[in-house]
Amino acid sequence: MELPQKHSATGTTIFTVMSALAQQHSAINLSQGFPDYPIDEQLGKLLYEAASTGYNQYAPMPGLPMLRQAVAGDFKKRYNLDIDADTEITITPGATYAIYTAFTAVLQAGDEVIVLEPAYDSYIPNIEMNGARVVPVSLSAPEFNVDWDKVKAAVTNKTKAIIINTPHNPTGAVWTQEDWDALAEIVRDTDIVILSDEVYEQIIFDGQKHISILQQPELRERSFALFSFGKVFHNTGWKIGYCIAPPAFTTAFRRIHQFLCFTVNTPGQYALANYISNSNAPLLHSMMQQKRDYFLELMKQTPFTIHKPAGGSYFQVAGYEQISDMPDMEFAQWLTKEYGVATIPVSAFYSNKKDDRLIRFCFAKKEDTLLEAVQRLSKLSI
Ligand SMILES: Cc1ncc(COP(=O)(O)O)c(C=O)c1O
Repeated sequence: MELPQKHSATGTTIFTVMSALAQQHSAINLSQGFPDYPIDEQLGKLLYEAASTGYNQYAPMPGLPMLRQAVAGDFKKRYNLDIDADTEITITPGATYAIYTAFTAVLQAGDEVIVLEPAYDSYIPNIEMNGARVVPVSLSAPEFNVDWDKVKAAVTNKTKAIIINTPHNPTGAVWTQEDWDALAEIVRDTDIVILSDEVYEQIIFDGQKHISILQQPELRERSFALFSFGKVFHNTGWKIGYCIAPPAFTTAFRRIHQFLCFTVNTPGQYALANYISNSNAPLLHSMMQQKRDYFLELMKQTPFTIHKPAGGSYFQVAGYEQISDMPDMEFAQWLTKEYGVATIPVSAFYSNKKDDRLIRFCFAKKEDTLLEAVQRLSKLSI
């Protein structure tokens, strides 16, 4: 019996391939985007407290009210934004799910969606699973800025949505106000919906400030903004995130959400609600900045080229033109096998596998892990 192929991504994802290879060769795994250090003890205690004080049954469909109120308070504190906890915030099992749900709320067969590539790998399958067509637009390596003329040229009367991501995985690029203004100009007088993936909003460096779509009044009314607690509190395995959207969009989002998973892990929501009010965003910035700076300093001992330090996210892209002219997929596998460090080839983030001879390192790791990895890489010769 043949079952339908609902999207064009076939085979195993690069993340599974590289992690399996890392394990096989006892390599240090700087490929997948998750921390190897523990979560704050207090957050773990709150999870225990939730389970032992009765927070074990289904939470309300949009999320525990205390967590939605905590998110609204957090956005008031950090962005001075008014967000309605009842009509604009929905708690989800992670941002990946929120992205799929937002696409499902918006798309119909035959619609087109503009995706800026390289891109997080769930976007394209999610669009195709909804019967819509992907229109890829490449960012310009090695700075990975958006070429707004190319985006404008990609818009047709079938364009239903554009998905954007800042700070950006895999490149660490960060949007400026000019980027938001350019996007606003392109979608003005159209019905194009924006999905804004902002999971790394709190991981941003060098004194920059994240600029959210929620701060763009003209865009906010046509957007879904997607966030992940996992990226902020180092607990990616809890898989809890949220979607902020205007009331009519939130209603459409919840129409899908209530029949996809209905509700999200209750003890985790309780723990996060109680933790958020005490969380310390500046501390998170400085901890991740330290990791990025430490990694960049160490990388000077290697023949890799850093074209531009990551402005945000967990990731640093590096060139290996001084080491080899292998295609990036081959190079990443060779590096894992021969030097014991696993990374991700950037071509994996393009639908056409565009190869700029770049690999992505994840630096959300303990200092010891980063040191050991770079010691191995410093054995590479030009
Ligand atoms: C750009 C981007 N969006 C979304 C996610 C997924 O977030 P979550 O784990 O909350 O589903 C990731 C995780 O790597 C990501 O890099």
